Amino acid sequence: MKRACVIGWPIEHSRSPLIHGHWLQQYGIDGSYTKVAVRPEEAETFLRDLAKNGYAGCNVTVPLKELAFAAAEHLEPEAIAVGAANTIWLEHGKIHATNTDTYGFMKHLDSEAPGWDSSSRPVVILGAGGAARAICFGFRQAGVDDIVILNRTAERAQKLVTDLAGGGFRAGDWDERLNCAEWASVIVNTTSLGMMGKGDLGLDFSSARPDCVVADIVYVPLQTALLQQAQAQDLRIVDGLGMLLHQAVPGFERWFGVQPEVTPELRRLVLADLEAA
Ligand code: ATR
Repeated sequence: MKRACVIGWPIEHSRSPLIHGHWLQQYGIDGSYTKVAVRPEEAETFLRDLAKNGYAGCNVTVPLKELAFAAAEHLEPEAIAVGAANTIWLEHGKIHATNTDTYGFMKHLDSEAPGWDSSSRPVVILGAGGAARAICFGFRQAGVDDIVILNRTAERAQKLVTDLAGGGFRAGDWDERLNCAEWASVIVNTTSLGMMGKGDLGLDFSSARPDCVVADIVYVPLQTALLQQAQAQDLRIVDGLGMLLHQAVPGFERWFGVQPEVTPELRRLVLADLEAA
């Protein structure tokens, strides 16, 4: 029996067992996926002892992602770009780590807004935290070379541009967000504004370009104020739940040997759980 888990502190809120448990059942795999509460000071030992404790690997959530990054013996480029790891597996006894937020976001964007096109207008990223890093890296991997990062704290946006190195990015003024739907091809909110219905980004969609795509990584509520405002102008929208579901795929495939599918049924299952919380 293959075993995997998600570690964090606290860990109660994690939806990962629901997602992986659904796939284990759906594909008839003899495996388990559990939640394990691991204190920050115990994280490195937990990861070193993965094999000893019978785990093929694990997911890592807050506040342990940077610690997992530091403990890894092999890092995938996505983890290096973000400076944090959320997926761990063992290869020849060594701890391998990646960050699947990049994959999760880009997969969901491709499936919900197929044909999104940034060839003539910039992509705008709102926010400059870990999620912004993962998503900027994804757009770069997809060949986008005009990305504008807007953050309340301008220095963080500038630091992200510097860290990503290699051109194609610029940090703008936070106020540029207000009318960015007039000049952006894709807008992605990676800030916590709108979470639990609190805060509003203040974007004006009244003169939005009709082909502008608006994505939010916040998934509680699923229809954030930002997405509602964009939808009211008939823009294509991409919600945050898909990223959560798709980012789980690479880990499951590594540990259990099957590439699982993100289906409407899985989406309904997780949505029902979020709504019941
Ligand atoms: P994560 O790693 O999950 O992306 P984070 O590093 O805490 O999270 O980043 C949160 C983002 O939300 C940041 O870009 C933050 O802006 P600052 O760098 O200025 O703090 C943004 N954010 C949070 N609250 C905000 C608010 N009230 N207004 C504007 N931006 C906010």
